[in-house]
Amino acid sequence: MWKPDRNSKKALFEQIADNLEQRISYGEFPPGSLLPSERKLAEQLGVNRSTVILAFAELRAMGIIESRTGSGTRVSSSKWGATPRHTPNWSRYSEGGSFLPNPPFMRRIREALTQHPSLIDFASGELAAELAPSAEIAALMREQQYTGYLGYDNPQGYTPLRQSLVTYLGKYRGIQTTESSILITSGSQQSLFLITQCLLAPGDAVAIEDPSYCYSLPMFQSAGLRLFRLPVDRQGIQPGDIRTLFKKHRIKMVFLNPNFQNPTGTLLGSEERKQLLDVASELGLPLVEDDPFSLTAYEGAPPLPLKAIDPVGSTLYIGSFSKIAASGLRVGWMVAPNAIVKRLADARQQMDFGLSVIPQQIASEFLKSSYFEPHLERLHTQLLYRRDLLIEALEKELPDLVQYSVPQGGLHLWCKLVPEVHDGKLLEETIKKGAVFVPGSVYGSDAGYVRFTFARPKAEEIGPGIAMFAEALRELMG
Ligand SMILES: Cc1ncc(COP(=O)(O)O)c(C=O)c1O
Repeated sequence: MWKPDRNSKKALFEQIADNLEQRISYGEFPPGSLLPSERKLAEQLGVNRSTVILAFAELRAMGIIESRTGSGTRVSSSKWGATPRHTPNWSRYSEGGSFLPNPPFMRRIREALTQHPSLIDFASGELAAELAPSAEIAALMREQQYTGYLGYDNPQGYTPLRQSLVTYLGKYRGIQTTESSILITSGSQQSLFLITQCLLAPGDAVAIEDPSYCYSLPMFQSAGLRLFRLPVDRQGIQPGDIRTLFKKHRIKMVFLNPNFQNPTGTLLGSEERKQLLDVASELGLPLVEDDPFSLTAYEGAPPLPLKAIDPVGSTLYIGSFSKIAASGLRVGWMVAPNAIVKRLADARQQMDFGLSVIPQQIASEFLKSSYFEPHLERLHTQLLYRRDLLIEALEKELPDLVQYSVPQGGLHLWCKLVPEVHDGKLLEETIKKGAVFVPGSVYGSDAGYVRFTFARPKAEEIGPGIAMFAEALRELMG
């Protein structure tokens, strides 16, 4: 008697559904005949009844069997008739395509936040509603209503926004550029996507920081890239490591987040920046500089970006509106050599014909407006205040149980836990208590690290949220 294979990668219910489908098509169960009951089949196959229920649901969705209350489950008569009607097997389709699913912890966090919106959210890497310039944006939308053409726009991006960005990048980031070197994207995320899909090929080797935001994105694996690690310490990465990776693996590109790195908060040293550019120009290696956090610097400006001091043009620079204003507007940008901008704009034409002009117009007006600088000043004060509330809470609730460096910008605090606990259990216990965070392993680090986003919860939730985390940690420590 056939039994499902418990060591197979295929789920038990799928194996059972396949087996039943085969037996039906071989005539063991003719059209209209009664199938064994769920309980009996579960006994025969040595599985739970719920597994058989799932297998039946799969066959029912395909139109192969029909169930009627009180009269059991039968092989459909219509399926085998002259005009069979089949439902597509959607669950199989949903496993197709080249996109890998998000890491299980990220899916779990999203599910927990959807089911329990009152959870204190140290997980979502974005600004709280109170920190976003919502009133200013609403005022601009009233004052500067969009009256332009609403047809397909230039896939490279709305020209007035690219012009505003030329001024913004020169003023705030020391980057001298022109509108023809700017591509507008749907957040930095799309810049990363376009680079991995259009400029690299499956099998190419790339270097990313360890830990890194990039590890939380299966995007790199979906593109078939081979990832090599550049360990991040207090000064950021060691530029010399790039030379070693190049010799060993012929890496084709390096992805970096030099300012208030996600998740560690590290600021790459000025000396390291120069060395990095030297290594890149020596090897002819492109650097992708992902810079969404630099304008959050709580006091004073961070060092100039690589792009601003890059003498030979090794850098593709990525920026975003998300971490300094509003992630929901989905406005990001890339500054790149013209050939790259053209290539990626052409891909945009195939993908989505470019970003909607409305959020681009809003972003452009906001950057030019008298609201922008006061907003940034308020943001710095608020982020600093929340960072200090988080540190105060950690010192109160978990003295000697956590180690961290104090970030000078960005939205996150990276924490090493002194006690060894299972990170999945810690996440579940913390959710039960009413808060949520991101386990460090999502960013490629070893277990035992935690990322707390202090920008997302309300200020008054930070203390109680850390008390919940501390309670969960203490319970697991026994
Ligand atoms: C380092 C880094 N890059 C890129 C992104 C993507 O941001 P967005 O697409 O909203 O600009 C994030 C978001 O958390 C990030 O932390």
